[in-house]
Amino acid sequence: MSIAIENVTKRFGRTIAVDGLSLEVPPGQVFAFLGPNGAGKTTTIKMISGLLKPDSGGIRVCDIPVSTNGLAARTQLAYVPDQPFLYDKLTGREFLGFVGEMYRVPIRTVDKRVKGLSARLDIDYLDQLTEGYSHGMRQKVALLAALLHDPKVLVTDEPMVGLDPRTVRTVKNLLRELAEAGTAVFVSTHTLGVAEAIADRIGIIHHGRLITVGTLAELRQQARTESSLEDVFLALTEEQSGPNAETIPV
Ligand SMILES: Nc1ncnc2c1ncn2[C@@H]1O[C@H](COP(=O)(O)OP(=O)(O)OP(=O)(O)O)[C@@H](O)[C@H]1O
Ligand SMILES: [Mg+2]
Repeated sequence: MSIAIENVTKRFGRTIAVDGLSLEVPPGQVFAFLGPNGAGKTTTIKMISGLLKPDSGGIRVCDIPVSTNGLAARTQLAYVPDQPFLYDKLTGREFLGFVGEMYRVPIRTVDKRVKGLSARLDIDYLDQLTEGYSHGMRQKVALLAALLHDPKVLVTDEPMVGLDPRTVRTVKNLLRELAEAGTAVFVSTHTLGVAEAIADRIGIIHHGRLITVGTLAELRQQARTESSLEDVFLALTEEQSGPNAETIPV
């Protein structure tokens, strides 16, 4: 299994950010992770990437336990955060060279991938310092950097935020192509159209708990709706008003 999350719980003080989460993503699958703000998506992604430790439960990436063998797990994985970090005083090209070296990718392979992917993503600013990049420009370079070492697992947090429509289309195509080539793609998104378009399976997390997981057809069936993923999402994440809901003073 490319990603195996087993009964993982993560607390921040009294907040249970992720609550008994179990989930598997096999190779070659695009898995879309949806949920309202504060549901636990970023926390889950950071635990898969080894940036946060679960309080309990275990995560394996390509069958390697992240908690005890983090470095080996991370060499199989690429992580694109929602707010990508690039070194301000490097140009995009220098940054990509640095990332390539870190993953021990041969320089000719780096050059070839940078050339191919920057053409596809309309990146023509690699010789400028990254401090001058807009959010979308950063996001594209971060994605390119993530793909330099040909990862078996790609984990990406809200990759479409701030991207123009043409780039969204390109990124959707890229994620699908990666999956066709055998990579497991784990993507959190609020852009339900993206999930609808590219996901093989969709999971919805709410208050740290996985409330449903399946294909779009399975989710529709569960939400008893024939319509869009938006309707499914709204039906399944509807807040239940408590008995005192109307008496709470405003
Ligand atoms: N470092 C932290 N310290 C304290 N609480 C945190 C921390 N990180 C996350 N949380 C809490 O954990 C819960 C889940 O947050 P998380 O960032 O995982 O949500 P999310 O699903 O990614 O939301 P969004 O859609 O807004 O990005 C929230 O209640 C949040 O306040
Ligand atoms: Mg988040």
